[in-house]
Amino acid sequence: MKRVITYGTYDLLHYGHIELLRRAREMGDYLIVALSTDEFNRIKNKKSYYNFEQRKMMLESIRFVDLVIPESGWDQKKIDVERYEIDTFVMGHDWEGEFDFLKDKCEVIYLNRTEGISTTKIKKELYGDNAK
Ligand code: CTP
Repeated sequence: MKRVITYGTYDLLHYGHIELLRRAREMGDYLIVALSTDEFNRIKNKKSYYNFEQRKMMLESIRFVDLVIPESGWDQKKIDVERYEIDTFVMGHDWEGEFDFLKDKCEVIYLNRTEGISTTKIKKELYGDNAK
């Protein structure tokens, strides 16, 4: 069984997220999403509309997602890859190169983002430039 992992905040779930999850799941047989906790979002200067439990529940309802685990810090990726016996680590290409240090442990793949959509864009279009 080929196991894939990806990371993110997944707030205000949109079709760009679904496309990323679909393509990540297609790279193997089992997809784990490490979902940023509210505390980790604060560290990253991100504020989500939905809290961790709500974002987790929505991700768990997506058929491409097999398991959701918390992402609570920058340094856990190596540990996750070992603990969950990951074959493929997938991120959007906004992170191109950043996680190449995992290449001695698993395959590292950066997927193209879906054009024209992001959580930030949704917030801006709904609430104007004051939205973060
Ligand atoms: N993603 C994507 N295409 C988009 C938006 C996001 O493929 N149009 C991917 C990201 O590359 C990442 C995952 O979805 O691998 C989760 O991204 P996240 O940062 O939670 O979503 P964004 O919409 O990018 O949120 P923000 O605008 O707050 O950065």
